Amino acid sequence: MGPTAWETGSEQVTYLGEMTRRIGGFELEKERALLSDPRVMDLLFREKAGTIEELVARLRQTPEGPLHYNVVESLAVSDTSFFRDNGVFETVEKDLLPCMIDNRSHNRKLTLWSAGCSTGQEAYSLAIATKEALELETGWTWKVIGTDLCSKNIRTAESGVYSQFDINCGLPASRLVAYFDKRKDHWYVDEFLKKHVSFQKLNLVDSNVAFPKADIVLLRNVLKYFNPARRSAVLAKMRQSLMPDGFLVMGENESVGKEDGFEPIQSGKITVFRPLIIENNKPADFSI
Ligand SMILES: C[S@@+](CC[C@H](N)C(=O)[O-])C[C@H]1O[C@@H](n2cnc3c(N)ncnc32)[C@H](O)[C@@H]1O
Repeated sequence: MGPTAWETGSEQVTYLGEMTRRIGGFELEKERALLSDPRVMDLLFREKAGTIEELVARLRQTPEGPLHYNVVESLAVSDTSFFRDNGVFETVEKDLLPCMIDNRSHNRKLTLWSAGCSTGQEAYSLAIATKEALELETGWTWKVIGTDLCSKNIRTAESGVYSQFDINCGLPASRLVAYFDKRKDHWYVDEFLKKHVSFQKLNLVDSNVAFPKADIVLLRNVLKYFNPARRSAVLAKMRQSLMPDGFLVMGENESVGKEDGFEPIQSGKITVFRPLIIENNKPADFSI
């Protein structure tokens, strides 16, 4: 008999929780109903496992490898939408992009990074905002990088194909018309935008992975699932990868402080974060 609900404290839950923390850095949400989660149902189906118990038994018997990574990726929360949180994009468009455009007028290069981009909506929203911010400028080279732990998310993001449901979540009609083509039941991101956006699989807690250098980083709704030690380790690395005059944007109700090497600044309706200037230009050591 298989479990019909997410049983907090069960041996399987403990095992899966340790695995997601070790491999993906995130904590499992205890109240999450595993068997009503389509991604988990899909995973059980793909792995031909009838129950969570069966899957965990198989994980225990197999040396850590693709099966474990697939399971961890399926357990990550992937909710997202275009232009998620109006206040954030208002600030990106009205304050952060104009400031960075000013700061980079000497070399006309801009890099934005959507870290934990899920299925790509955040990265494409950034690309739309950047393209529009540079409308009256010439000679700029700019790109948006989207990265995520989950290969399936990256494949969806790279395809640039979205359902009507995805579109209805946050994309204004004027931008839909300007940047998407409809074919049959789906919407395709236009080629101009796609040329400026690239995606790659990147595990934020993999110590062997280098973070891209960026002027503006959106790291939203990712670290809230991490424990404090994992969170600090990611932020320490993020601080080094952000340009000294760059901006870090977190999710609603997420914050970073001086202890993480960032300085909060009120910008429009939200707080954004700048890397703290370290004396003698030495990078701060926040490693754990
Ligand atoms: C809730 S979504 C947030 C998406 C987007 N940033 C937003 O706010 O709409 C969190 C994303 O973080 C990704 N994620 C979780 N752990 C990660 C890790 N260790 N490295 C990279 N991405 C991770 C998940 O796969 C998921 O796509």
